[in-house]
Amino acid sequence: MTSKRFKNPRAEHGYQGRPCSILSVGSYVPERIMTNAELEKLVDTSDDWITTRTGIKERRIAADNEFTSDMAAMAARRAMDAGKITADQIDLIIVATITPDMLFPSTACLVQHKIGARRAAAFDVEAACSGFIYALEIGQQFITSRTYDTVLIIGAEKLSSIVDWKDRNTCVLFGDGAGAAILQSLPNSHGLLTACMGADGEKSELLYMPGGGSMCPASANSVAAGLHFLRMDGKETFKNAVNAMYTAALEALRRCELKISQIKCVIPHQANRRILEAVGERLGVTKDQVFVNLDRYGNTSAASVAIALDEAVSTGVVKRGDLVLLVVFGAGLTWAAAVIEW
Ligand code: COA
Repeated sequence: MTSKRFKNPRAEHGYQGRPCSILSVGSYVPERIMTNAELEKLVDTSDDWITTRTGIKERRIAADNEFTSDMAAMAARRAMDAGKITADQIDLIIVATITPDMLFPSTACLVQHKIGARRAAAFDVEAACSGFIYALEIGQQFITSRTYDTVLIIGAEKLSSIVDWKDRNTCVLFGDGAGAAILQSLPNSHGLLTACMGADGEKSELLYMPGGGSMCPASANSVAAGLHFLRMDGKETFKNAVNAMYTAALEALRRCELKISQIKCVIPHQANRRILEAVGERLGVTKDQVFVNLDRYGNTSAASVAIALDEAVSTGVVKRGDLVLLVVFGAGLTWAAAVIEW
C-alpha cells in the first residue's frame, strides 16, 4: 500500500488500483540570469517595485537556440539518472507546457526523440501553470490502472518567447525552465495520496495569448497587433489565484483527512510572494512550511512546482516519509493540488 498512516482517498471510492509513487525528480534552468536591474533598462520599472510587489529578484532566460523540448529533455535526463531509469524503460511521456516548440507535433514527441525513449507513447497537456499537477494526476491514472509501469512527466516552459518585453505589467514576472518526475508503483513505499484538479473557462481572458491558434492564425497583422504575446489582468488573476489555491489545498487535505500542521512542506506555484503569503495565511501554515524559490526563477508556469519539488528534495528540505502539499493555479483558469508522502 502507498501508506498505512494516512487515509487513501481512492479506497473511499472502492478504487482498487495499485499505488503510484514518484520514484525520482530532476530539473533544469538555463544558464542566463536576468536580474531586475537588467529589466530597469528595458521598461519603466525598478528593482524595488518588482521585489516589493512580487518577491522576484531574477529569472532564467533560455538561449535563442534553446527550446522548451531541450530544457524538458535536460530535466528528464536528470530525473532518469536520479531514479536509475533507462530510456527504454519509459512507457509514456507527458509534457505540460503552454510554450511548445511548435503547435504540432507535441513537445512530448520531440522529448521522446531527444532522450531516446523509443518505446514511449507521448503527448502534451495544456493547463498553464497548473500543468505539472494535471500531468501528475493523468500519469497516475496509467500507473494505478496497470496500463503502464513507468511514466515520465515534465513541466517545461520558454515563457520568454511569449512575453512582451515592452510590457512592464507582465515581463517582470516570468522565466524559463523545466522540471520532471518519474512515476512508478513502488509497493510498501512512498506515494501520491491524492490529486485534485479544477477549471473555470469563463475566466479564460484573465490570462491568455490570443494569437497563433485557429481563432487568430499568425499573420503580419496579428504580429503587428502583438497578439502573440501573453496578456493578463494582474489584479483579477491575483484574487482568483488566492481563492483557487486555498480551496484546492483544502480539498486535497480533506480527502486524506490531514490537517495542515501534518504537512512538512507546502510547495505552491511560484507566481508571486504575496499570493503565496495570502494562501499560506488562510491555510494557517508557518513560514517554515512553505517552499519559495521564486526570488531566483520568477514564474516558470508548468515548470514551477516541478523545479521547486526537485530543489526541496535535493536540498534536504523534503525527506523520505515527509508529507508534501503541492498547490497550483494558472490560466484557463485552472487549479490543482496534490498530497504526496515523499
Ligand atoms: N514596474 C513599475 N510599475 C509597475 C509595474 C512594474 N513592473 N507593473 C505595473 N506597474 C504599475 C502599474 O502600471 C500601476 O500604475 P498606476 O497606478 O499608475 O496605474 C501600479 O504599478 C500598480 O499596479 P497594480 O496592477 O495595481 O499592481 P499590483 O499590486 O496588482 O501588482 C502584479 C501587479 C502583476 C504584480 C499583481 O497583480 C500580480 O502578481 N498578479 C498576479 C499575476 C500572476 O501571478 N499571474 C500568473 C498566475 S499563474
